[in-house]
Amino acid sequence: MTRDIEDEIKDEKNPRPLDEDDIALLKTYGLSPYSAANKKVEKEIKELAKRINDLCGIKESDTGLALPSQWDLVSDKQMMQEEQPLQVARCTKIISPNTEDAKYVINVKQIAKFVVGLGDKVSPTDIEEGMRVGVDRTKYKIQIPLPPKIDPSVTMMTVEEKPDVTYNDVGGCKEQIEKMREVVELPMLHPEKFVKLGIDPPKGVLCYGPPGTGKTLLARAVANRTDACFIRVIGSELVQKYVGEGARMVRELFQMARSKKACIVFFDEVDAIGGARFDDGVGGDNEVQRTMLEIVNQLDGFDARGNIKVLMATNRPDTLDPALLRPGRLDRKVEFGLPDLESRTQIFKIHTRTMNCERDIRFELLSRLCPNSTGADIRSVCTEAGMYAIRARRKTVTEKDFLDAVNKVIKGYQKFSATPKYMVYN
Ligand SMILES: Nc1ncnc2c1ncn2[C@@H]1O[C@H](COP(=O)(O)OP(=O)(O)OP(=O)(O)O)[C@@H](O)[C@H]1O
Ligand SMILES: [Mg+2]
Repeated sequence: MTRDIEDEIKDEKNPRPLDEDDIALLKTYGLSPYSAANKKVEKEIKELAKRINDLCGIKESDTGLALPSQWDLVSDKQMMQEEQPLQVARCTKIISPNTEDAKYVINVKQIAKFVVGLGDKVSPTDIEEGMRVGVDRTKYKIQIPLPPKIDPSVTMMTVEEKPDVTYNDVGGCKEQIEKMREVVELPMLHPEKFVKLGIDPPKGVLCYGPPGTGKTLLARAVANRTDACFIRVIGSELVQKYVGEGARMVRELFQMARSKKACIVFFDEVDAIGGARFDDGVGGDNEVQRTMLEIVNQLDGFDARGNIKVLMATNRPDTLDPALLRPGRLDRKVEFGLPDLESRTQIFKIHTRTMNCERDIRFELLSRLCPNSTGADIRSVCTEAGMYAIRARRKTVTEKDFLDAVNKVIKGYQKFSATPKYMVYN
């Protein structure tokens, strides 16, 4: 007994070092039976999540921006502040061009002229004399070449997305389409034909005809077809408040057109500015007339074989100034007459293409019932027929609806029709 106690005391004094089994045993103290397995699975899940995130990269939302949680506004702000705004200057002269140490004379408006070098991001070929450039504010080094100054309202006139109208949507007007394409497409696609013959292709086309016969529609179809840049100007847009503004806009418009590879300029409702000149008796001269004269001037200015074609549309050709129309400026005049029977049938078919109609509607008969009506009238008939069907709570449009609509539109609206008036003027 005493010996045991003695042994124990001795053990306590210099205890036996724990071996590995003991440590493993101690580690499991207080743990549940599955904790080791759980730990292992948890670790695996974490690794998997990390790998998935790595593979996905940074997540982007629908707007193309990073998730708001990942925005770093402070450092962004700092970065923005480092990039100073540039100043606009004009490069007036290049000293010893095409050499290593070319220098540029720039003129910063209302400050001074400087002789400067190029920034790091510009190549010497980018800069020409007379160009607008952006310079930094400390050393006035040229940082970017700028496009020529063009009024933003002029730049906005460019038709960027193509209209969804094609030649197939224009009923009848075969001859007009042919004439238009001849003038617009042929010189652009095969200029050599004209060179060989030694003639100048027409510079532009004037489309005229009663309201609603498809002038604007055809121009839109042309815009859809062509790969050229299409600029659409409404005549009244060029009438401005201040004297000289309208003429300046025309100048900038043609300047922009000239900078494109191929360009079609379409003046719609040109009678807003192209009216014949007259003396108003007060001696005051007319701003609108000056705008028109600038167009005349610009029409003379560009080369007929060049890249610009001018289309104009109006429904009052008699009011236009003869100077605008003389051969050499707008040589081609395309009349959009009232559609004939066959064209009317075609227009009916075009406008009912998307409608939910009964089968076997006699469009021939319908078009016989609307003599002397324009494309716009026929479109109105189709819409009205649809309205009748809606009123009767039907899902399809019947021939009876069309007949009613013809009665209503063609007979009822005759008083408002501008076509007879047009016929009198011309
Ligand atoms: N030949 C046609 N084929 C199919 N639809 C036509 C035709 N002519 C006119 N329309 C219809 O009439 C509508 C008006 O035509 P558009 O805008 O071309 O008239 P416009 O000749 O320019 O008249 P305005 O001289 O009053 O400007 C078009 O949107 C189109 O739906
Ligand atoms: Mg029009």
